[in-house]
Amino acid sequence: MSGLLSLRGLRVAFAGEGGAAMAVRGVDLELEGGEGLALVGESGSGKSATAKAILGLHDMSSTAVTGSVRFEGRELLELGEAELRSFRGRGASMVFQDPGTSFNPLLRMGEQVAEAFRSVAGLDRKAAREAALGLFSRLGIRDPVTRYAQYPHEFSGGMLQRMMILLALAGRPRLLVADEPTTALDVTVQAQVLLFLEELKEELGMAVLLVTHDMGIVAETSTRIAVMYAGRIVETGGTAEVLGSPAHPYTEALLEAMPRPGSRGTRLATILGLPPGVYEADSGCPFFPRCRHALASCMDGLPPSVEAGPGRKSACFRTHSLSLRGIA
Ligand SMILES: Nc1ncnc2c1ncn2[C@@H]1O[C@H](COP(=O)(O)OP(=O)(O)OP(=O)(O)O)[C@@H](O)[C@H]1O
Ligand SMILES: [Mg+2]
Repeated sequence: MSGLLSLRGLRVAFAGEGGAAMAVRGVDLELEGGEGLALVGESGSGKSATAKAILGLHDMSSTAVTGSVRFEGRELLELGEAELRSFRGRGASMVFQDPGTSFNPLLRMGEQVAEAFRSVAGLDRKAAREAALGLFSRLGIRDPVTRYAQYPHEFSGGMLQRMMILLALAGRPRLLVADEPTTALDVTVQAQVLLFLEELKEELGMAVLLVTHDMGIVAETSTRIAVMYAGRIVETGGTAEVLGSPAHPYTEALLEAMPRPGSRGTRLATILGLPPGVYEADSGCPFFPRCRHALASCMDGLPPSVEAGPGRKSACFRTHSLSLRGIA
């Protein structure tokens, strides 16, 4: 089966006064058509920078994006701006964290939605209005004709985010990249939006790359998981397997830092220490200073990604000895 998306040695570096900020340091990742993959990791690990690189959304005047991003066999890093524009929306589409910033507050909601249908799906005015009204009905909005003429502030955050998702899907993309799509919403609304996303994924047969730092959300939405640490993927595998028995010490620590059911209100455990900064050069395993399983030899170069079971990989020098000891 040929992959939908393949990242190879992807690097993203932002030019800044302190030198190059190395946000993504060589990411390899595969996604099959129709697959749900969660990309998780601490804040600053490079999840958004990776997601934006897939859509060609970095400001190329100040950002170096290198390596390879192949989508249905086509190298996206070689596309020009016009080709990228037509790829976005039809090939892959992206939704962001804050629904409030995605709409123009001064334009009527119905017109914004219709405009998206016109530009992405190529519908004429009448068909676009029909499509927008249909979308309102699909979202359970009562009296769609009245609501069509209202402004974004008259809609709830959860409703705006669901609209964002549907708009992103107007061109029937094969891949939706959703970057923390529910973080700005309260917990009950989060669940509704995720369920909605799941329904659409099934209905359209599209792949979803869900960026999140919430391991609870991962368990409910994705069949595969990729764990990111300091600009690299340190572990990949089936969600149930990885959450059930992590192979990489960082994944193990992340899961321990997760709030448990019933622990509401108690203080969250955090992983001791800090990840290396974006300006720091590599020296040894990047997780070494925080790793409870580290040996002195873990400072000898970067750990390669190795098989850690069926369909699983882990970038740890000790993958095999730890799995024998039962961390995996
Ligand atoms: N334009 C920029 N210029 C310089 N550094 C940047 C820029 N954008 C992001 N970074 C840095 O790159 C690193 C990765 O950022 P990124 O936004 O990809 O993290 P993330 O994993 O998405 O985090 P979060 O969970 O907080 O969204 C961070 O250290 C961030 O500060
Ligand atoms: Mg982010």
